[in-house]
Amino acid sequence: EFTACRTSLLKGKKVIVTAGGTREPIDPVRFIGNHSSGRMGFAIAKAAAFAGADVTLVAGSNDHLKTPAGVARRIDVGSTNDMKAAVDSYYDDCDLVIKSAAVADYRSAHPAANKIKKSDETLTLTMAKNPDILYGLGQRKAHQVLIGFAAETTNLIEYGTAKLKKKNLDMLVANDVSAEGAGFQGTTNIATFLFPDGSMEKLEKMDKEDLAAVIVERAAAILAKKNQ
Ligand code: CTP
Ligand code: CA
Repeated sequence: EFTACRTSLLKGKKVIVTAGGTREPIDPVRFIGNHSSGRMGFAIAKAAAFAGADVTLVAGSNDHLKTPAGVARRIDVGSTNDMKAAVDSYYDDCDLVIKSAAVADYRSAHPAANKIKKSDETLTLTMAKNPDILYGLGQRKAHQVLIGFAAETTNLIEYGTAKLKKKNLDMLVANDVSAEGAGFQGTTNIATFLFPDGSMEKLEKMDKEDLAAVIVERAAAILAKKNQ
């Protein structure tokens, strides 16, 4: 449970949390998506709201999750470009972005205007690269604190560190999704926090709700240090 002093950790701070997956349309009735449940991001939004923040939850596809109590606004989005537009519109005067969404790296290059009819034995879709939302935020970072996620199956620390640097982040939550009890589905996660000074914090397997509370605590500490 939260202690009393934690409830004001993010008082007066504007926080954007992205959660869930993005869906890329291929025609009016179909999409390419992923198995993100949205649980990690919704738990972070809840924890940040509990800590006193003004929370904007940008929600992609998820397991029909309810908006957590205290979240100021929720924006439901479909594609990566939709998510980018929503995040960008709140970015300039926000204090903290926590980007837990599972974003599609590619979209259909030419979504069909009408439902695709079946014909040949194989169907080839040409995909176009999506913009990297978080990279874009890192490029125009001013006073904001940026926290990203990385789900990896190999070379967790190496790949995570590369993402932390490339995207100009203040903290990266790296998950080994090949480990039991971690990942997209399920209610637990196993995370290692990576920081720009090269330090690391390896956490035990824990409930996504508990991990969310720890992430919010670290985010508040980074914000406090920045504003000294
Ligand atoms: N991300 C994003 N926009 C994208 C892709 C990823 O904002 N188009 C964000 C995710 O929300 C996450 C972080 O970047 O916080 C890392 O996502 P991940 O998929 O692990 O890394 P990528 O940079 O996409 O690299 P790759 O998938 O090749 O490992
Ligand atoms: Ca990716």
